[in-house]
Amino acid sequence: MNVFIIGIGGGVGVRLARQLTARGNRVDGLVRQAAKRDELAAEGIATTPGDLVAMSVAELAEAMRGNDAIVFTAGAGGRDGPEATDQVDGEGPGKLAAAAELAGIRRFVLVSVFPEAWRERRMNEDFEHYMVAKKHAETQLVLTALDWVILRPSALRNEPGAGTVDLGLAKVHEEIRRDDVAVTIAELLRQPTVNRVILEVTGGTTPIEGAVAAMKP
Ligand SMILES: NC(=O)c1ccc[n+]([C@@H]2O[C@H](COP(=O)([O-])OP(=O)(O)OC[C@H]3O[C@@H](n4cnc5c(N)ncnc54)[C@H](OP(=O)(O)O)[C@@H]3O)[C@@H](O)[C@H]2O)c1
Repeated sequence: MNVFIIGIGGGVGVRLARQLTARGNRVDGLVRQAAKRDELAAEGIATTPGDLVAMSVAELAEAMRGNDAIVFTAGAGGRDGPEATDQVDGEGPGKLAAAAELAGIRRFVLVSVFPEAWRERRMNEDFEHYMVAKKHAETQLVLTALDWVILRPSALRNEPGAGTVDLGLAKVHEEIRRDDVAVTIAELLRQPTVNRVILEVTGGTTPIEGAVAAMKP
């Protein structure tokens, strides 16, 4: 399978690229900076220079054409203010979905964010803005005719993966390791019948392959 990853140089993205490559898939994805492209190339990960915000829908479609699936795991990370959050986290997935339709790519996995169940904790204004943007992005994807899966992970950690998760329709969120999110996405891509569903994932004790297989209708 050929998979195009938006955010391929990011925390989850690079882990997913490694996972998919190790499983015999081909990956590609947009990277903005040449230095990051060199870094990824050094470990055998091919990328395409590009910026989701700067590119048009037609340019994105051209960059992605020939792939079997798209994964959106990009994010402005709150580093460049609310406008960047709107452009990347909020409008990015919908724009990419339009490009996917143009390129004839049906499978689309969106990495979203944990929902209300975690949010009794007090959050600052920027964080609330991010949550609104992510919710907007989910809505944009749900409104398409694509074969989408929205995956809502807990707060992400960089410790090595446990190989186990708690995956389902509604979870109480704590934390999850980026490695485990990446493996969950790789497994979701292997299960095309898990489709048009919003799943939540947090750290847990179920082996990932079985956790994803249990989501099959
Ligand atoms: N952090 C958390 O605790 C948390 C919790 C739940 C969900 N999430 C979601 O999980 C996903 C992965 O998070 P992460 O922390 O692993 O990501 P990350 O390390 O912050 O990486 C984000 C990636 O997005 C890319 N990106 C940003 N703007 C872009 C643009 N205009 N065009 C192309 N690429 C662009 C970045 O590229 P550059 O390298 O060029 O900057 C980077 O590779 C995100 O969607 C995030 O919203 C995060």
